[in-house]
Amino acid sequence: MEMGIPDVNIMVQMNTTTMRPSEAVQVCLDEKVPLFCAGLGNPGFMVDQAHARGMKVLGVTGNSKNARRMAASNVDIIVAQGHEGGGHTGRIGTMALLPMAIDAASPKPVLAAGGIGDGRGIAASLAMGCAGVWIGTRFLATVEGGALGINKQKILDSTDEDTRVSRAYTGKTLRASYSRFHDLWDASGLDPVPFPMQVLISSALIAGFIEANKPDYVGGLAGQISGLIHEIKPAARLLEDLVEETVDILSRKLPETVIAK
Ligand SMILES: Cc1cc2nc3c(=O)[nH]c(=O)nc-3n(C[C@H](O)[C@H](O)[C@H](O)COP(=O)(O)O)c2cc1C
Repeated sequence: MEMGIPDVNIMVQMNTTTMRPSEAVQVCLDEKVPLFCAGLGNPGFMVDQAHARGMKVLGVTGNSKNARRMAASNVDIIVAQGHEGGGHTGRIGTMALLPMAIDAASPKPVLAAGGIGDGRGIAASLAMGCAGVWIGTRFLATVEGGALGINKQKILDSTDEDTRVSRAYTGKTLRASYSRFHDLWDASGLDPVPFPMQVLISSALIAGFIEANKPDYVGGLAGQISGLIHEIKPAARLLEDLVEETVDILSRKLPETVIAK
């Protein structure tokens, strides 16, 4: 009221993914999706059914304990996501997490996630022993990226210090572009309600801020690598650039600068 936020008439979609995960998993099994990735929790419970249908299963983890658990559950590929990543995130930085997750998941392959935005991050991940990378924020800031225009602009405007981890969005720790919504929630002293119900509250608030034209209070999910992103590219060109940069580092720059005797 004080801020002049209008009543918003929004329909917040609590879809099967958030409200009835087991039904969403069953749809994926019925459709035999080639790759199934679980972002929260161990997808081990559905691995045998997935393999019987020719599917591969990935699991995202933020620590080595869960990397070990997922590997023991026969998950095909473990995605180790560091604290700097956009979206739901754990407490351990990517650089520290990767070698520990690789050891814990062995012999299962690990993809590096969190803070990768160009060929340097990819080359470093490969050098660390990862089978590949899993990139979120950099692809969000593409022509095809699904974020609102205002949130893409926030990524472009961000420095490396302009994201925050907060439970105000979903009830779980989640990294997003900094906005005054973070300060407002912190100052309220309110505890977020448990995941996923907090999504209803934050979505309604943010829709109100957008409708009231208060962009200072709006920011989308994004990682610390936002500070490296200065251009919205078509996704295909970004992919080509990432591959070219990585190949250049591995085949030219490293052999020129690192001489092992
Ligand atoms: C807008 C956005 C939405 C995301 N949604 C999900 C999700 O629904 N499930 C999930 O497992 N990870 C999700 N993530 C995390 C990504 O899968 C990935 O691990 C992360 O973006 C990697 O870090 P980066 O953003 O630094 O590249 C999301 C990330 C972003 C930026």
